[in-house]
Amino acid sequence: MYSEKVMDHFQNPRNVGEIEEASGVGTVGNAKCGDIMRIFLDIDGEGIIRDVKFKTFGCGAAVATSSMATELVKGKTVREAMQVTNKAVMEALDGLPPVKVHCSLLAEEAIHAALWDYAEKNGITIEGLERPRSDIGEQEEEPEY
Ligand code: FES
Repeated sequence: MYSEKVMDHFQNPRNVGEIEEASGVGTVGNAKCGDIMRIFLDIDGEGIIRDVKFKTFGCGAAVATSSMATELVKGKTVREAMQVTNKAVMEALDGLPPVKVHCSLLAEEAIHAALWDYAEKNGITIEGLERPRSDIGEQEEEPEY
């Protein structure tokens, strides 16, 4: 059901932990499954992500996607980090079962939330970055009129 890469990142997650005085911190959750993900970014004066750590209280796929997402943004510029979508994370993990796609969305949103925090602290705008939602499940739950 899970690819070898997913199992590897679940069993040996990269970049677990936190960064003190991080340049940006983002926390997102999904109220439906109750999973929470927090990403810490250390960004230098050139806008390059020097270090990244994560803490995830969630399912195995959430751990694997956060681990892969941190690997994908490390060493990248802020602008390049915007390309790390949940699709990119899933591709890098050789796919996820359909019911676990939302876990990768949590990883994308957590990175965006951390970038948003960084942008706010520094009074800058990052192209294409929108105010993050703290609950990625909230849109699914909104009634349709
Ligand atoms: Fe919700 Fe994985 S089951 S993040």
